[in-house]
Amino acid sequence: RNPSFTQVTEDHVKHLRSLLGSTGSLMSTLDGSASVDELVAYNDDWMNKYHGKSQVVVKPKSTEEVAAVMKYCNEQNIAVVPQGGNTGLVGGGVPIHDEVVLSLANMNQIRSFDPVSGIFVGDAGVILETADNFLADKGFIFPLDLGAKGSCQIGGNVATNAGGLRLLRYGSLHGTVLGLEVVLPDGTIWNGLRTLRKDNTGFDLKQLFIGSEGSLGVITGVSIMCPRRPKAMNVAVFSVESYEAVQAVFADAKDYLGEILSAFEFWDQQAYAVVRKHHEEHLGGERKVFENEGPFYCLIETGGSNAEHDEEKLGNFLEHVMTEGKVIDGVLAQDSAQFTGIWSLREGIPEACGKFGSVYKYDLSIPVGKMYEVVEKVRARVREAGLLKGDGSMSDPIRAFVGYGHMGDGNLHINIVAEEYRDEIEAAIEPYVYEVVSEYQGSISAEHGLGVMKAPHIHYSQDETSVKIMRDIKQLFDPKGLCNPYKYLP
Ligand code: FAD
Ligand code: MLT
Ligand code: ZN
Repeated sequence: RNPSFTQVTEDHVKHLRSLLGSTGSLMSTLDGSASVDELVAYNDDWMNKYHGKSQVVVKPKSTEEVAAVMKYCNEQNIAVVPQGGNTGLVGGGVPIHDEVVLSLANMNQIRSFDPVSGIFVGDAGVILETADNFLADKGFIFPLDLGAKGSCQIGGNVATNAGGLRLLRYGSLHGTVLGLEVVLPDGTIWNGLRTLRKDNTGFDLKQLFIGSEGSLGVITGVSIMCPRRPKAMNVAVFSVESYEAVQAVFADAKDYLGEILSAFEFWDQQAYAVVRKHHEEHLGGERKVFENEGPFYCLIETGGSNAEHDEEKLGNFLEHVMTEGKVIDGVLAQDSAQFTGIWSLREGIPEACGKFGSVYKYDLSIPVGKMYEVVEKVRARVREAGLLKGDGSMSDPIRAFVGYGHMGDGNLHINIVAEEYRDEIEAAIEPYVYEVVSEYQGSISAEHGLGVMKAPHIHYSQDETSVKIMRDIKQLFDPKGLCNPYKYLP
């Protein structure tokens, strides 16, 4: 714990409460308004890997309330963790020690939507799925989709620069976000909530906050450009005989499907086995999709404006990959239930892994052709360490080792399911995995961010000059270092 940070007392809690509009906006064990158990959801992360000890959670209802809280905490030297839906996977959204949690959960209003430009403006605490459902009613789509959509918030998405399942089609939030409203660490409100597509008047300040993981301030409002929702959507899943074949199918998908391709995901046999096992043991029932399985699987989604046109394109593509023997087997969704069912094979991987133990997650950018080599190298490493025999019994210290990812974006995920988080297991994997990534000139964080997990390892992907510039920026915005401390930078 940084000794220069103030330890929060009941008097601080009383003052913080006076800054907030209504009761229920502050929960604290210090004044008895909450029990330790009630704060667990804010102190523990989604993986149950990181555990904070905060005694105070504030839930402002307006930008002005966020500003008042930040100003007071800055004056009092109280450290603060901005928290969205708490679905982050690098321990960035939970306290490390006793920092005050500033939850955006009560800032959940959609502010405006323009059906001509497709520009949506909302509070940071709007749940991603709520925003997308609102847009669906109007024939638009949020340009980001991910498995945590039911809990994560659009402010959290921007703070992490989340990538997700359709980045291939809609691009990064660095392109789609048009403006932000941010409360700076000293309580100043920066109103950068523009709705302009083009604006070359000086530094593009919003870009600094996209992916800043709460280190520079609290995002309170988001303006984002949303495309028309595709009228026709299709999804197909294939089993394939090698990683080379997955790449060949990917190349063909781009060639045959062109502008209607909206996602291309892949996973390995081990990931598929964990999802099926989860289905059988916890969701009730066998989940057999293919007559002929394979060592690899890929999922292709298309989205276009004309069903006939898309079907023709998809038909040509399917005929090509089947007759050329590029895939072993395949299933094309025939209705919306099958559409969701096929997606759940892929989206269900993180949840399924979590059901069988404690998960070490690696989120890497690697040149597409080399992605699976990295999985094999790291898998061989833990086998050599005697932690994985791989007989499928799940009795080893490492119960499962799976590779999957957003193939279309060169983003590989490795999930290592261990019987428990243990130093000996972590030491076998880290920093080895980061050294391998560095050898391939990849990135140790493609889309999940740095948080507390990867802050010490940033040098595997960024040189000293880059880290120095980042430190200078942090110093400029937050000279006291009170905003989400112990994370992001080493
Ligand atoms: P939190 O977890 O609450 O916070 C994450 C970070 O952002 C923290 O550092 C926090 O301090 C900061 N933060 C949050 N809100 C604000 C704010 N308003 N202002 C300033 N800082 C803030 N990620 C992907 O990129 N792609 C995926 O495909 C993907 N799939 C996922 C699937 C599952 C099942 C799960 C559990 C997670 C997945 N994630 C994925 C990770 C996670 O959902 C994203 O990082 C998401 O953007 C986090 O949003 P959140 O609201 O939960 O933020
Ligand atoms: C995913 O692609 O499923 C997400 O990034 C989450 C994860 O890997 O756990
Ligand atoms: Zn992902």
